[in-house]
Amino acid sequence: MAKQEDVFKKIISHAKEYGFIFPSSEIYDGLSAIYDYGQNGAELKNNIKQYWWKAMVQLNDNIVGIDTAIFMHPTIWKASGHVDAFNDPLIDNKDSKKRFRADVLIEDYCAKLEDKADKEIEKAAKRFGDAFDKKEFESTNPRVLEYREKQKTILSRMAQSLEKEDLGDVKALIEELEIADPETGSKNWTDVRQFNLMFGTKLGASADSATDLYLRPETAQGIFVNFLNVQKTSRQKLPFGIAQIGKAFRNEIVARQFIFRMREFEQMEMQYFVPPGTELGFYETWKEKRLNWHLALGLGAENYKFHDHEKLAHYANAAADIEFKFPFGFKELEGIHSRTDFDLSAHEKHSGRKLQYFDSERNENYVPYVVETSVGLDRLFLAIFSNCLKDEVLEDGSERTVLSLPPALAPYKAAILPLMKKDGLAEYAQTIFDDLKFDFNLFYEEKDAIGKRYRRQDAIGTPFCITIDHDSLTENTVTLRDRDTMKQERVAVADLRRIIDEKTNFRNLLSKI
Ligand code: GAP
Repeated sequence: MAKQEDVFKKIISHAKEYGFIFPSSEIYDGLSAIYDYGQNGAELKNNIKQYWWKAMVQLNDNIVGIDTAIFMHPTIWKASGHVDAFNDPLIDNKDSKKRFRADVLIEDYCAKLEDKADKEIEKAAKRFGDAFDKKEFESTNPRVLEYREKQKTILSRMAQSLEKEDLGDVKALIEELEIADPETGSKNWTDVRQFNLMFGTKLGASADSATDLYLRPETAQGIFVNFLNVQKTSRQKLPFGIAQIGKAFRNEIVARQFIFRMREFEQMEMQYFVPPGTELGFYETWKEKRLNWHLALGLGAENYKFHDHEKLAHYANAAADIEFKFPFGFKELEGIHSRTDFDLSAHEKHSGRKLQYFDSERNENYVPYVVETSVGLDRLFLAIFSNCLKDEVLEDGSERTVLSLPPALAPYKAAILPLMKKDGLAEYAQTIFDDLKFDFNLFYEEKDAIGKRYRRQDAIGTPFCITIDHDSLTENTVTLRDRDTMKQERVAVADLRRIIDEKTNFRNLLSKI
């Protein structure tokens, strides 16, 4: 089995074993691409939401946050283009009966070409050592150039065929490249068809009068249709933003990568309303701001890159993804889109209501343009979780698994661990817990040897372990163990609040943005 797969399996099993993520409805054998967050997962997810909300809403006096309903008027999805155009090209393998996204098969083929180019670069870097000039090598080495040129040709042909709805050519491309079912090697493909990703449902009690609805496939439309409500009641002037965190639903064709691609997931989206003609400047600004937000997490700058879209969605005049290096390669984490005035204009047309803004400086009414930032919360969870999960060999040769989460995001900020239950240690530990619980989410545990308890806290990412021993009772001091260095120091109980706060406060992340 490939090493990459082993790593991914370990991530999934760790997430389950330590109460982060469970397959949904597991006792009924689960439900495909649906997952539940356990006790530690819910805390981590909430902390990621807080980091986003604070950075977007609290730190920007011209961005406000809202929370709109999942059910929306069905005409909204007609206006937004989702009824007609929210499709993925689908292809079945006739032998394995497995279903694939035709565009993903082609993109995966191109990713393999890029891997080959990377290997050439790696080999050369080893050969030339310090004298290696990566840029020079990339722009002159015939093999690297050939791999990259081939990718470009393939991707641009695919983009054009999808744009023209020429699904026959997408199939022809798959056949020409001799792309096979990755698991069985079969190249026996059906034709490519379009598949709408929205889930339908019904509103109302009786079958005849029920209205057909969709579960929202993005949270953004809740923001668009409330644009004027929010603008008027918040008295914001352009440019200003509306942010929202909420569930979205897509009937994904292929959903085999744990929480990377789910059928029910959460998005954190922000629509930034700007005067027409200024959108591309704001688009560049938000690309940079959003990348900095990710970089502040400290997961490594080398793990992020921009991917500018060749094929633009029906609503965009510029679009890019921030890609992250997941255990299965670089993939989209966040989208930044310059959505023009497409959505607001479409809602004006379909609703018959004006969605315009009076610009007192320009002395005119207009439909604002929109720059959107949209990040998948679950995908971000996976990025953080997979990057932070590490197996370490310690100086004495023993091993530990540690989840080195950014401290502000850790489910528990500290664990309170009386060395033993008797002699009043548990009672004293409880007083510390009761004093600090108003400021931090704390874990309390009395059972098992202290080493074992430390390991369990490492595995869920708790930045501090506080051990209460007999000296604590007379000296009012405790042993404070740091998750990352594993160093232990004796500190006064009176200093605990300050020390934990210094390390775990959101300020540490937010001040780096
Ligand atoms: N409002 C724009 C929009 O929805 P998108 O690129 O389709 O754009 C934005 O989605 C983000 O939502 C993606 O970058 C990804 O992080 C997340 N996302 C999309 N589909 C997802 C899925 N099936 N499972 C998990 N996350 C998903």
